[in-house]
Amino acid sequence: MFLGIDFGTSSVKAILADENQRVLATASRKLDAQRPHPGWSEQAPEAWWQAMLGALDAIAAEQPAAMSAVRGIGLSGQMHGAVLLDAAGEVLRPCILWNDTRAVAECREIEDAFPGSRAVTGNPAMPGFTAPKLAWVRRHEPDLFARTATVLLPKAWIRFRLTGERIEEMSDASGTLWLDVGRRDWSDEALAVTGLSRDHMPRLVEGSDAAGTLKPELAARWKMDAAPVVAGGAGDNAAGAVGLGATAPGSAFVSLGTSGVLWATTDRFRPNADQAVHSFCHALPGLWHQMGVTLSAAASLGWWAGIAGRDEATLLAELDAAPMGDVPVFGPYLSGERTPHNDGAVRGAFALLSHDTARPDMTRAVLEGVAFSMRDCLDALAGAGTRIGEADVIGGGSRSRAWTTIMATVLDMPLHRLADGETGGAFGAARLARLAVTGEDPAAVCLPPRRTETIMPDPAMAEALRARLHRYRALYPAIAGLGA
Ligand code: XUL
Repeated sequence: MFLGIDFGTSSVKAILADENQRVLATASRKLDAQRPHPGWSEQAPEAWWQAMLGALDAIAAEQPAAMSAVRGIGLSGQMHGAVLLDAAGEVLRPCILWNDTRAVAECREIEDAFPGSRAVTGNPAMPGFTAPKLAWVRRHEPDLFARTATVLLPKAWIRFRLTGERIEEMSDASGTLWLDVGRRDWSDEALAVTGLSRDHMPRLVEGSDAAGTLKPELAARWKMDAAPVVAGGAGDNAAGAVGLGATAPGSAFVSLGTSGVLWATTDRFRPNADQAVHSFCHALPGLWHQMGVTLSAAASLGWWAGIAGRDEATLLAELDAAPMGDVPVFGPYLSGERTPHNDGAVRGAFALLSHDTARPDMTRAVLEGVAFSMRDCLDALAGAGTRIGEADVIGGGSRSRAWTTIMATVLDMPLHRLADGETGGAFGAARLARLAVTGEDPAAVCLPPRRTETIMPDPAMAEALRARLHRYRALYPAIAGLGA
């Protein structure tokens, strides 16, 4: 038996998988993020811990026999967040999350001080990454910075609580801007730019390596026969890739979660930092990947649902029923944008509103705006030499047929929907746990899930969407700089 636990931004989700990779139980607990100032986004690590305890207690109550036989635990985590620990291992401040954009100025300073940063780390300095956050803390909270003994990403902090060990794996470490991504090792030069050294960093392993053993008191809490191994695990996108079997060069998927991600697996380190392509290690040895990331995907629809006073499902149903009006243009830059603009200061916009604009038109604009931003990601990946002809689609947003059809049409490629349950970061994390325990060949374990349906581009929509993509691309230059 293997447990996979995914620490997302809006929830912690745990699954229990048997020796045949069948999911026996799942449990999740919701999380909130705090936005104490414009552009800030934070969570208390203790909230992740309590949510995880709640989810695992529920699974233990539902499946006590299976839980007692757990051999490995895999962790998947929201990426880039900075958890600061003092010398005693205590958390110094709330975690600054991946979608926090306070560190815009620090990005420029890092690249000025270390001109080799893009070549070594494979990525432009982006405010969501970990290093600029530490540069911000150093400037604005110098006392806390001076007391910082260790910096951990969210799931590495969970591992620290689970095992007492400070260990991180390559896929998540890639999002810090401190990793030499081609060499799969910390970069002393990159660390020095933010006043840190290897001493502040956890030890590095691959995602499929063993990385500690569950503390006896926790194994006893869940009545486990023997303390399970905790695997390296993965950042949530790499864990999702392992769950989907996107482990061969060329495999691709679109994730419509809180953020939107276009992922492509690569067999080597192939950066395109100038268009804000993320070039990271995969969670398996000898593999890398490229990602285009839009910061607010399902988060844009959630925001609009809050404004419109309707839940997402109601808005989507209303869309199906309404005749298509004159659709405005939406820039989904609610917390800035990564690919291709790398602009933490830009903010979202609706443009081309009229007296006739109705709620369904605005809902459609939101769905289209996110799809257009994914189109920008596709083109940025093409600039890095990666052509994608088809992709799987995962994440909450993929449950909407309307949204997936718009996405397929804008990306001009078939999108495959997958059998529910056996996808997502938690499932991939359970697979990494299995690999760490059994040492099996990843190709034998990371099989693709069943495709339930292929959504093709809709020729009836294509022309109108092409015209609106053109308007969308004119929107960013018109609003860039307004929010600064
Ligand atoms: C990826 C990124 C997001 C988070 C979401 O670079 O920032 O996809 O991992 O949890």
